[in-house]
Amino acid sequence: MWIYKLSWIAAASYLLSAPCLAAQAPNLGQVATPEEILSWDISISPDGSGLPPGSGTAKQGEALYGAQCASCHGDKGTGNPQEPPSPVSAGPLAGGQGSLAGNQPPMQTVGSYWPYATTLFDYIRRAMPWAAPKFLYSLTAYILHLNGIIGDTEIIDAQALPKVQMPNRDNFIRIYPREPG
Ligand code: HEC
Repeated sequence: MWIYKLSWIAAASYLLSAPCLAAQAPNLGQVATPEEILSWDISISPDGSGLPPGSGTAKQGEALYGAQCASCHGDKGTGNPQEPPSPVSAGPLAGGQGSLAGNQPPMQTVGSYWPYATTLFDYIRRAMPWAAPKFLYSLTAYILHLNGIIGDTEIIDAQALPKVQMPNRDNFIRIYPREPG
């Protein structure tokens, strides 16, 4: 019986203290400032909105790629076929155009598969070793050049990048929204 009483007391004291807790809760972290939100809001759309100022060419990106990317992605984006769990094993970034057709497993690279050049900038900034915006444009340009998509002196910036026509752009099919039922 005393167990029953105890739990009743516990429930009553919880109910009584609940409004008090609500007044204090959650008290976790702090409200993000507009500046903080801006620094995390780094998404770039296919149409290029969100691209920061800056520019670069493939020629400028070549040395940077050699220093920061080639150890994992191989010279000229050919991939580094070390057996996992090697920390420097990563797939190719160039080649494979046309390999999506036919019955063989396709080689999916930036040049053979990705529909938008702007995604390349977004991906490198988000996921690959940190680089400042001016380097990001040259790196993006260099990988596009490795894939034979732009020339090595073409200036790539927020206006030019969204206009780059990726070879596989028109081969994606829309699955959603599905037919009702
Ligand atoms: C420490 C190794 C390493 C380094 C250095 C590195 N990468 Fe990567 N990268 C990877 C791995 C691993 C993946 C695959 C990630 C996955 O599929 O989830 C990848 C994926 C990518 C992709 C996407 C490829 C695709 O088709 O899905 C791009 C683009 C890329 N890296 C660019 C770069 C650039 C540019 C640099 C230099 C600034 C760089 N990477 C440096 C390991 C590395």
